[in-house]
This record gives sequence, C-alpha cells and structure tokens, in this order.
Amino acid sequence: MWHYSAMERTVEQAFASDSPAERGLGRAPGLVVAALLLAALSFFLLPTAHSTSRSFVQINGVVVSVLEDTTVGQVAGDTLALARAGSALDLTGDVVGIGRGAAAESALNGEPVDKATALSDGAVLVVRHGGQRLEGISRKTQQVPFETVFEGKGAVVSLVQEGAPGSREIFRGDESGKQAAVFTVAAPQNAVIRRSGAASKGQKLVALTFDDGPGKYTQGVLDALADKNVPATFFVLGGNAAGSKDVIAQIKAAGHEVENHTWSHPILTGLSAEAIQREIQRTSGVIGGSRFLRPPYGTYNAAVTAAAAAVGHRLVLWTVDTLDWKTRNADAILAEVKRSTKAGAIILMHDGGADRSQTVAAIPRVVDWLFANGYSLTTVSKLLQS
Ligand code: NI
Repeated sequence: MWHYSAMERTVEQAFASDSPAERGLGRAPGLVVAALLLAALSFFLLPTAHSTSRSFVQINGVVVSVLEDTTVGQVAGDTLALARAGSALDLTGDVVGIGRGAAAESALNGEPVDKATALSDGAVLVVRHGGQRLEGISRKTQQVPFETVFEGKGAVVSLVQEGAPGSREIFRGDESGKQAAVFTVAAPQNAVIRRSGAASKGQKLVALTFDDGPGKYTQGVLDALADKNVPATFFVLGGNAAGSKDVIAQIKAAGHEVENHTWSHPILTGLSAEAIQREIQRTSGVIGGSRFLRPPYGTYNAAVTAAAAAVGHRLVLWTVDTLDWKTRNADAILAEVKRSTKAGAIILMHDGGADRSQTVAAIPRVVDWLFANGYSLTTVSKLLQS
C-alpha cells in the first residue's frame, strides 16, 4: 500500500492550489520535467513500484503517476462534485459577486469528464474551481483647485502669488464605482493676497473716500470739503460719471482724486476676468484714467485682484466703515469715525446711492474731530505713498 499513499500525496498536490499564480507555475515546463523525473525514479528504484503497472497522467498541469485502472472519480471525485465558479472582485480585492468569476473547469483530454473513465497513460485531466475575475478599472485625471491665502491687514490689496490648480489621478472600479487610489500629480499652488495699510511716518494721515457717485449729493459733499479746505477721494461709478463729466472735472479741479468703483457696481467675484476688466476700463475711459479699484461691496478674490492688476489697478478697500448708507445719521457717522480711526485710516462714506444728506451734514463734524485729534487729511494716492 506504500505506493498508493505516495500516489495520493502526489494527487493532492495536483489539487493543492487554487491560485492562478501557483497553477501557472505548475504548468511551467521545468517543473513538468522535474515531476516526470521524480516519477520515473520512483518507478525504477522503489521495489514495490515494479509490481503493478502505472500510468503517468497530468492533473491540473502536474504530472503524477497513478496505478493502472485508476478512474477519474478516484482522483478527482470530490473536486468534481464541489468545483464552482470563481468570484468577482472589485479593485480593492473585495468579493462583490460569489460565482460571478470564471466558470469551474472539468475536462479529460479536452472532452467532458466521466467519473468512471480510467486514466490512461498520458491523459490530461483538468478539474478545478473557476478563477477570480477582477472588475475593469478606469483612470481619470482630476483638477485640484487652489486655495487663496490672505496675509496681513489693511485697505490695500495686492496679489503676491497667482494661484494655480494641481491635478491628481483617480482609479475607479467600473462596476463597483469604488475609488482605489489617488495620486497627486501636481500639487496646487495657493494664491496669496497681501493686505497692507498705508505707512504713516510721524504724520497722522487719513483719507476720506466717497463711493457710488457722482449723484445729487456730490455737490453738497464738495461744498462741505471746500468749507474745511480738505481733500478727498471719490470712487465713482462709470455709469454715473458718463452723464456727469462736468462734475468729474469739477471734483478734479477742486484738488480731489477720482478713482474707479466699476461701471455698474456688480459683485466682481461672479464675473469673468474679461468682464471685470471691461467694468474697470470703461469707467477709466470716462474719468480720464484711474489706478485704484474699489470693488463693490468690498468683494474680491484672487481672480478679481489679478484681473484688476492686469489692467493696471490695485484694489483699495477701507479701514473705517462709517455705515452712513445704513444709519443715515450724522451722529452715528461721527461715532464710527471716533471709534475706528487710526493713523493711515481710509474712511468710507457715500455721495451716491440714496439720501446722503446726513453724510453731507457729518463731514464738517468729522473733519473737526480729526483735526482736533491731530490728524491731517490727504488723498488715497498720497496716503499710499506716505
Ligand atoms: Ni459702492
């Protein structure tokens, strides 16, 4: 019986592995030759092996020797009964469909298997579970948006580094939809916006600014400023200035600055670079040139800053919001100035929009308070040069 148990062990080896890799090795010609040699050696050298005729058969790619008249059922009966299709795997290796892989295989010399058939010398028997099937995987390149980083404080906005999107690759299973791996191909470059204040060397300089005009209160503002003999800066809307070129000329003749508050007061962050530049340039054309853009509502981002810079404009916000448009009350306007003004301040008021009579009324009181507290008034461009 010794030789029979030897055969059993060898047959076990033929069914030992389900893995495609090991099955592949079993089919390697070198291993087949080695198995043949081993089998031949045992046939000639072991005394009991001579007593009975043997057949060399190949089972699942492994050559083994079996006793003559051994049937398919004797060597592969259990596997034949239990062989099943492999599983479908998603790209993470998780089983997503038992039995949805490759079908189980069984064949004797390429023909359907009959358990009762004896294995003749040279027979090729295949009886095994089906292999696993990996789902299709697709690769996609995706843009990684950049972030905008703000540095510093102050009313003057400069874009010191343009943002650039990065990219990454995503692998996704076609059937499972699972995402297996993300490789960052290029990291995004953050946009960096620097906000700086006006330097104020020794002098306590502040700038009064008036937005949204020219309008019907502009003359009152000009008269109040003239009474105190102080300069200011007007961030005008091109749409208003277009019909009031004489007022623009009058503002400039009085020594004030006229700067850009766009044509139609849009939220610039919602516009394309071209649309932003059209807003700026149309207005600039009407007011005889401009260098500073005050974005409507103080709303801006890296794209707005870059678009303005490309047509020669820096963004100028404010440091003191008098909220004159909201309170419409000279006392409240003065209170905000007192509360928030520091050297280098840019003070926001409005000469256009709605009823600005309280703004006009607040001007002499604001100027008196500024003078009483050691401040000097100047324009935005001079404040930024100081
Ligand atoms: Ni405005």
